[in-house]
Amino acid sequence: MDRIVIQGGRRLEGRVRVSGSKNASLPMMAACLLAEGPCRLENVPEVKDLRTMGEMLEVLGAKVSRRDGILTVDSGGFSDRAAPYELVRTMRASIYVLAPLLSRFGQARVALPGGCAIGLRPIDQHLKGLTALGARVQMEHGYIQAKAPRGLTGANIYLDVASVGATVNILLAAVLARGTTMLEHAACEPEIENLAGMLNAMGARITGAGTSQVKVEGVERLQPVAWRVVPDRIEAGTLALAVAVTGGEAVLEDFPLAHLTALERKLHDAGVGLASETGGVRVFREQKPLQPVDIVTLPYPGFPTDLQAQWMALMCLAAGRSVVTETIWENRFMHVAELKRMGADIQIEGNSALVRGGRPLSGAPVMASDLRASAALILAGLVAEGRTTVQRIYHLDRGYVHLEQKLATLGAAISRETA
Ligand code: EPU
Repeated sequence: MDRIVIQGGRRLEGRVRVSGSKNASLPMMAACLLAEGPCRLENVPEVKDLRTMGEMLEVLGAKVSRRDGILTVDSGGFSDRAAPYELVRTMRASIYVLAPLLSRFGQARVALPGGCAIGLRPIDQHLKGLTALGARVQMEHGYIQAKAPRGLTGANIYLDVASVGATVNILLAAVLARGTTMLEHAACEPEIENLAGMLNAMGARITGAGTSQVKVEGVERLQPVAWRVVPDRIEAGTLALAVAVTGGEAVLEDFPLAHLTALERKLHDAGVGLASETGGVRVFREQKPLQPVDIVTLPYPGFPTDLQAQWMALMCLAAGRSVVTETIWENRFMHVAELKRMGADIQIEGNSALVRGGRPLSGAPVMASDLRASAALILAGLVAEGRTTVQRIYHLDRGYVHLEQKLATLGAAISRETA
């Protein structure tokens, strides 16, 4: 198993390009199944989760190929085979094939995803939405069995939680449904807006995506499209925080700062600047010591849960107390025990972590527990005294395009070792 080895203490400087978004590419790959013929997705990051999604589409009969960051999905052979547990359990976003199966074939059999390291991850809102659109949904032997023999029909749907995944599945189902769907309390993430842009380019009629109220007027069919995936705001945020922990200065290329407003404001309060300039975003330390700042994770445009662990690594360095509150996932503090092994002083109380920052971190062997926790440990390693090894980095590879190479480009002493 690979591991990442870091020698802490280097200041990061230079320029690095932000890759395309994993969490936008995943629903877009599923959206390709809605058109007959080959769709092209550009700026798709080379990460494990997207290879898993590709395998899922192939199991369902689509042809998937990839070259130079361009992914082609040809839905020519798409059929209503079952989406198997072996794939769904390794990546929960495989649930995105539910809606395309239902709307193209009037039936779907998709393994029910279980929980994962960060939480229980129910899918009741996905199913509530599809049921409102006319699907009959049953659970059988660990599989979701959904049927809509007479097709789907537009409906008014209110989500109890602004779920990203449920918003995706409902959009993918509503675009080919008869009549109009009004979705209230939808997720507003840029990935949703980008997905709706792609669907509209395929001929769908969606308005309001990116706000909490989305209207979809169903159409009869969608055409194949070529579409460019938005830059990955979570990768960009991770890189910004990496530069910040080292007190460095760097430019993140190809990234719109508007997608990271919450991080920008919180970093500003902490004494780190993010400023748009031609071609990207400059990250720099302001002329004051790093300040402790509280955060609460919330759905977009709130502070992203996917940057909570990395933010905590930064707060370990700010002299004083800060509170990190996680409201999205019930078990997303697994990095805390590992950060403590590096000398951090953090106390968990319910869904908050009290960080007493300002003590130097020391390099140690640590274990990654999930994708973003892996990134947080690497950030801590960049500034810790001595050597840090981060194990179980298959978590990291699910969602980052060679994070270690990008950090090395900025001057970090970091490498991957294959054990
Ligand atoms: N929820 C329900 N019922 C549902 C769906 C969700 O109660 O039917 C709850 C969840 O338990 C959670 C909250 O709603 O408490 C938000 O869940 P959401 O459905 O928005 O999350 P997701 O779609 O499963 C995506 C990202 C996650 C990211 C969350 C929140 C993808 C593939 N995954 O997950 O990304 O944390 O939104 O922003 O887009 C990551 O990339 O590291 C990652 C975990």
